[in-house]
Amino acid sequence: MEDIRPGSANSNDAFDISESLVPAREIKQAGQSHVSFDGLLQQPLLLKEDLKEGCGGQLWPAGMVLSKYMLRQHRSDLVDKTILELGAGGGLVGLAVASGCAVGPSPIYITDQLPMFPLMEANIALNDLANKVKAAVLDWGTSISDDIPRHPDIILAADCVYFEPAFPLLISTLRDLLGPNSDCYFCFKKRRRADLRFLKLAKKAFQVTEINDDPDAETYKRENINLFSIRAKHDG
Ligand SMILES: C[S@@+](CC[C@H](N)C(=O)[O-])C[C@H]1O[C@@H](n2cnc3c(N)ncnc32)[C@H](O)[C@@H]1O
Repeated sequence: MEDIRPGSANSNDAFDISESLVPAREIKQAGQSHVSFDGLLQQPLLLKEDLKEGCGGQLWPAGMVLSKYMLRQHRSDLVDKTILELGAGGGLVGLAVASGCAVGPSPIYITDQLPMFPLMEANIALNDLANKVKAAVLDWGTSISDDIPRHPDIILAADCVYFEPAFPLLISTLRDLLGPNSDCYFCFKKRRRADLRFLKLAKKAFQVTEINDDPDAETYKRENINLFSIRAKHDG
């Protein structure tokens, strides 16, 4: 995929979001991070970061927000749920959920485009989570392979809104995946006016509700990060 870094826009758009609240991101060398999500994980995740295959090779702010939300508010209500992460990059959110929430017996599927597959696999192995997490290729807008649950109960998506040509593809994949009982926790950082177009498309296609039980919300909203629940529309 095109190596376009979220936050790298440099326009004079009046709605362009200032990055001043967020430290500027350097393109990092490949390396490893320990992430405990402010102590929510007793044993921090060890995450390999490597940008050579695309922007998913490092951690993004909405992924941190969504992970913390899941660890705080869904620590014990995910047992027996099928769970899938879209645009997982190195697998931050899915691995956090696998590590800190009660889950199973189905594995959590962390998915992304093919170039991210080795990084997802490496991070599963680094955290010894192969018994709980599977990596899979899911390219938005393409048909979903038979190994992936057709209508997962829980879909996780963080920082997947940043490249306008991919919006209809992501909508199409959400349409394929969202069954009547699926709930997608969708977190993104609004960086450009165009990102609001994704929200418009999503509201047309699905039931989109802002999540309001996150104690951190006031803080991250100041950085233009928002957390939504996306569900299929009821018929009729
Ligand atoms: C900004 S990164 C976010 C990574 C991770 N969710 C996080 O929060 O740290 C966006 C991810 O979306 C993935 N992505 C972009 N276009 C995609 C597509 N068409 N199909 C599947 N994944 C895609 C990228 O490969 C990348 O890993």
